[in-house]
Amino acid sequence: MQNDIQEILISEEEIRAKIKELGSKLSAEYEGRNPLVICVLKGAFIFMADLVKSITVPLELDFMAVSSYGASTKSSGVVKIIKDLDASVEGRDVLIVEDIIDSGLTLSHLIELLKSRKANSVRVVTLFDKPARRTVDLQADYTGFVLPDAFVVGYGLDYAEHYRNLPYIGILKPEIYSS
Ligand code: XMP
Ligand code: MG
Repeated sequence: MQNDIQEILISEEEIRAKIKELGSKLSAEYEGRNPLVICVLKGAFIFMADLVKSITVPLELDFMAVSSYGASTKSSGVVKIIKDLDASVEGRDVLIVEDIIDSGLTLSHLIELLKSRKANSVRVVTLFDKPARRTVDLQADYTGFVLPDAFVVGYGLDYAEHYRNLPYIGILKPEIYSS
């Protein structure tokens, strides 16, 4: 698996330090508000697990699965709800936890959905951002790392469901895509 990686973009240690920073900021923002923290599956599952350990205020968790990619590396522009939330977001302060923002389509759809369900507030924390590829006007409230326009894997992110368990973020060797 490691042999398929051409370059490590962000190390495990860098990710850990950044998540501590994000956790402190979010702890301050959500003091006394009991936020509902929503993990966007599958990509954000590792980030979610590490992030909530760095948040020191009481919170609740929920999970949602949406799909826009399939096995390809380009967004289809279609966002489908695969798994919906367990509980109502009405009146809640919602924090969406995303792995990566690319075109922004997935997130803009999710934000509109949660607002239409009458969340009190909807904020977004993303670990990675590829602003060069945005097709809709959207910015996360909290961003870990800005990445170049390359398809990345690891730390929850996959290529055809593989590499999610790599502890760092890397770029795949080109021959992996073409094989
Ligand atoms: P959009 O384009 O809607 O896409 O902002 C967001 C979702 O697309 C996936 N994505 C990636 N997955 N490596 C991945 O493994 C990437 O470089 C990449 N870029 C986008 C991801 O699921 C994200 O939530
Ligand atoms: Mg995702």
